[in-house]
Amino acid sequence: MTLSQTLLLASAGAAAVVGSVQNVTKPNFIFIMTDDQDLHLNSIDYQQSVQKHFAQEGTWFKKHFCTVALCCPSRVSLLTGKAAHNTNVTDVSAPYGGYPRFIEEGFNDDYLPVWLQNAGYNTYYTGKMMNGHSLSTYNNPRINGWNGSDFLIDPGTYIFYNATMSRNHDPAKNYPGEYSTDLISAAAVGFLDDAIKASDRPFFLGVAPIAPHSETITGGDAKFNAPVPAKRHEHLFPNVTVPRTPNFNPNTTGTASYFKTIRQLNQTEIDYNDDWYRKRLQSLQSVDELIDSIIERLSANPTVLNNTYLIYTTDNGYHIGQHRLPPGKSCNIEEDVNIPFFIRGPGVPKGAVQTIPSSHTDIVPTLFSLAGIPLREDFDGEPIPVTKELLAKNEKSEHVNIEFWGEYLVEGNTFFGQSYFPNNTYKHVRVIGEGYDLAYAVWCTNELELYDMVNDPYQLTNLHNTNSTVNSWPIASLSSRLNGLLLTLKRCKGRTCTRPWEKLHPKGDVKNLKDAMDKKFDAFYEKHQQPVTFSECALGQVLSAEGALEPVQWREEWDEWSYHT
Ligand SMILES: *[C@@H]1O[C@H](CO)[C@@H](O)[C@H](O)[C@H]1NC(C)=O
Ligand SMILES: *[C@@H]1O[C@H](CO)[C@@H](O)[C@H](O)[C@H]1NC(C)=O
Ligand SMILES: *[C@@H]1O[C@H](CO)[C@@H](O)[C@H](O)[C@H]1NC(C)=O
Ligand SMILES: *[C@@H]1O[C@H](CO)[C@@H](O)[C@H](O)[C@H]1NC(C)=O
Ligand SMILES: *[C@@H]1O[C@H](CO)[C@@H](O)[C@H](O)[C@H]1NC(C)=O
Ligand SMILES: *[C@@H]1O[C@H](CO)[C@@H](O)[C@H](O)[C@H]1NC(C)=O
Ligand SMILES: *[C@@H]1O[C@H](CO)[C@@H](O)[C@H](O)[C@H]1NC(C)=O
Ligand SMILES: *[C@@H]1O[C@H](CO)[C@@H](O)[C@H](O)[C@H]1NC(C)=O
Ligand SMILES: *[C@@H]1O[C@H](CO)[C@@H](O)[C@H](O)[C@H]1NC(C)=O
Ligand SMILES: *[C@@H]1O[C@H](CO)[C@@H](O)[C@H](O)[C@H]1NC(C)=O
Repeated sequence: MTLSQTLLLASAGAAAVVGSVQNVTKPNFIFIMTDDQDLHLNSIDYQQSVQKHFAQEGTWFKKHFCTVALCCPSRVSLLTGKAAHNTNVTDVSAPYGGYPRFIEEGFNDDYLPVWLQNAGYNTYYTGKMMNGHSLSTYNNPRINGWNGSDFLIDPGTYIFYNATMSRNHDPAKNYPGEYSTDLISAAAVGFLDDAIKASDRPFFLGVAPIAPHSETITGGDAKFNAPVPAKRHEHLFPNVTVPRTPNFNPNTTGTASYFKTIRQLNQTEIDYNDDWYRKRLQSLQSVDELIDSIIERLSANPTVLNNTYLIYTTDNGYHIGQHRLPPGKSCNIEEDVNIPFFIRGPGVPKGAVQTIPSSHTDIVPTLFSLAGIPLREDFDGEPIPVTKELLAKNEKSEHVNIEFWGEYLVEGNTFFGQSYFPNNTYKHVRVIGEGYDLAYAVWCTNELELYDMVNDPYQLTNLHNTNSTVNSWPIASLSSRLNGLLLTLKRCKGRTCTRPWEKLHPKGDVKNLKDAMDKKFDAFYEKHQQPVTFSECALGQVLSAEGALEPVQWREEWDEWSYHT
């Protein structure tokens, strides 16, 4: 069937699927994930359907983060509910990442769709799965867990008008002249019909278009161009430019690793960036149409809609020109890690905005909890309180652990003359509690960063090693606690990832940063705790390069303050 036939059928069939009375107690899930979409460059302001069907009908979790700002590691972490240091799929390609690493680590039998099928779900997926899911690997072995699938396959994943796709494991085909996101939209609506017809089981439908990712020629010498919008959207937003926030191409350099070396962009480069930005916004318009098609089909089946949670998010964020950076991701800056996350469905407050911190590692636990499936002990995340009921008893932790191993690949490298920046391995933690919002990082160069995100949301003033204060806390005391937290999180598993202070203070009397700031812990954190360090900028999780791996635990005898007073 051609795409136009599929679309025709899709619109003709927009009426309710006859005889579909879903008789299930578990809810359905529709999970829409774009690729490299920013929150901080305001892309969602240009998506009316995200506003109408998600922001107005559901809750926006404004402090949602990816835990690795790179597609493949982020997706594997999301699909397993595990931190990247535990999946050890940390890159997009060999030796540290890509689909073959996902297989090697045994996740093909142990990840979200397999678990959902075992819990009685029908599962469907269309779009990009992960990097390295390619012509040579997609049937070797096949990816498990999907009742219906239509995957974008490398090297055609990022070619907007000539995608390569494999439907239900059939030989991959190219679609010259057809628009990638439209193909994904047609496949998604088709699977939705299948799911509704198979009314004896609840369903999960994953929809992963590639917009607004760059058009990328994959392979050893990857080449990145601006994304290609659908022809019908090429004319939109002619005068829109990247928001000129205080951190856009600033006249001062950054303070750590290669950020210290990047020169200011010239006008040619700024124009190129603005054009890149417009193409991203244009490419997202077809994602809006995809959302409309899904909502239209669900609206025709109100009992199904009534029992379905819909999520809109992306795999990682994106920057263009902030801190002088050329287009790309992979950094620990807020643009790359704080990303769109919307959810709507039964019990989810409408038109609400939440600032409870959450991350991609929390998504599978969230789905499990909504479906009444017992949480696995090896989850490194915890359910996000998305419903009114869950919000009423919210105990979610206040931190998000962000990690990265490798280089920063420069996109749009025609203008920047450099295809990558080395020394991009770092450990980072965001802590968002009552009265404080902090970003703390240790780079593989052993440089440190500390930003007060309340007063410096654009991350222009590194407070590390200054005589400043945050929330009236001296920087040295604060840094010492954040170091202890980061050290606890860097190799955490399971509950330690969500309740790290319990590991540092086994008595359970310290539950958050504020508790840990008690003066009686000064000596413990400032003198006895080990620092987070690196001995080299390894490209993967090579433990011998990562300094201390476990924190020292608190001992009463270190309470100098109480002894002396
Ligand atoms: C739904 O399932 C319940 C329990 O299995 C059964 O009693 C009921 O008749 C079913 N309803 C419909 C409409 O099939
Ligand atoms: C989906 O796959 C699961 C696991 O193989 C199976 O039990 C279920 O019957 C399938 N659903 C449909 C509609 O074929
Ligand atoms: C589409 O991609 C295939 C595979 O790379 C290639 O052989 C074909 O020439 C391309 N078609 C067009 C119209 O670009
Ligand atoms: C874009 O800018 C041009 C030149 O400044 C102006 O003539 C035009 O009206 C603007 N278009 C829009 C849609 O704002
Ligand atoms: C640097 O940028 C700041 C803020 O935009 C501005 O106040 C200052 O004058 C600039 N300095 C130079 C040397 O351009
Ligand atoms: C949807 O659910 C609400 C609340 O549970 C209920 O009042 C309403 O009748 C339901 N609508 C449909 C079409 O099932
Ligand atoms: C800007 O920098 C690029 C190199 O990235 C160079 O090719 C170009 O000539 C420069 N343009 C201007 C206006 O300086
Ligand atoms: C990378 O970091 C190492 C170790 O700190 C340093 O020697 C080297 O100069 C850095 N390279 C670049 C390009 O920043
Ligand atoms: C911080 O204060 C101490 C003591 O007043 C002083 O010696 C030191 O130079 C100051 N450091 C900075 C970075 O201002
Ligand atoms: C992660 O995988 C890489 C590549 O296989 C390996 O070299 C490294 O030792 C692994 N790290 C851990 C902590 O398992």
